[in-house]
Amino acid sequence: MACRTAILISGSGTNLQAFIDAVAAGNLDLDLCVVFSNKPDAYGLQRAAKAGIPTICIEHGDFESREAFDRAVIAELDRFEPELLVLAGFMRILSSGFVEHYEGKILNIHPALLPKYPGLDTHQRALDAGDEWHGSTVHFVTEELDGGPRILAGRLRIHPGESADELQTRVQAVEHRIYPAAAGLVGSGRVVFRDGDAIIDGKSAAEPVLKTYD
Ligand code: GRF
Repeated sequence: MACRTAILISGSGTNLQAFIDAVAAGNLDLDLCVVFSNKPDAYGLQRAAKAGIPTICIEHGDFESREAFDRAVIAELDRFEPELLVLAGFMRILSSGFVEHYEGKILNIHPALLPKYPGLDTHQRALDAGDEWHGSTVHFVTEELDGGPRILAGRLRIHPGESADELQTRVQAVEHRIYPAAAGLVGSGRVVFRDGDAIIDGKSAAEPVLKTYD
């Protein structure tokens, strides 16, 4: 049975589309059971509907606290009995109650080679630092923002004179390859979260699997 997977978005959903396409092509064995958005105008909701995936939207502005919103999201998501949650451009910080409820089952992708550049503005920060490499990292979500154990990173060489926008476009293309791949590893049980670590093929992984792209 394919792993029941919920995808959480706030915006365009190009990563969501990469999951939809990979499943449709038979390259990814996940059951995309629901797409959740905290924004009603998120274009990703249309992508999900077109693919025949149920959608839920709850606006965080309607709740008095982060915890109350997160409890409502949990109640809705759990109707679909997800085994894996994929954060794909979901622009909310999760409460500890949410992270505990789905402990070891939440993935995020961050557009930097973590532990470098947690937070925002990652492309410009990599350029400003004169870095040779930049990329994106898939990791398990813990309470530490962008700090959970890393699973898979995709890197590319920064081109001389490249702008932050150009770099972002190239990094997004990498994300569309590594995120479905990493989620597939978790969905099949080859990667698990145990005692705060990512276990990859039975071994505790201090470093993520690293792939290099052009
Ligand atoms: C991605 O670049 C991801 O790294 C970040 O949010 C962006 C989402 O883009 N967490 P999209 O909505 O999937 O196009």
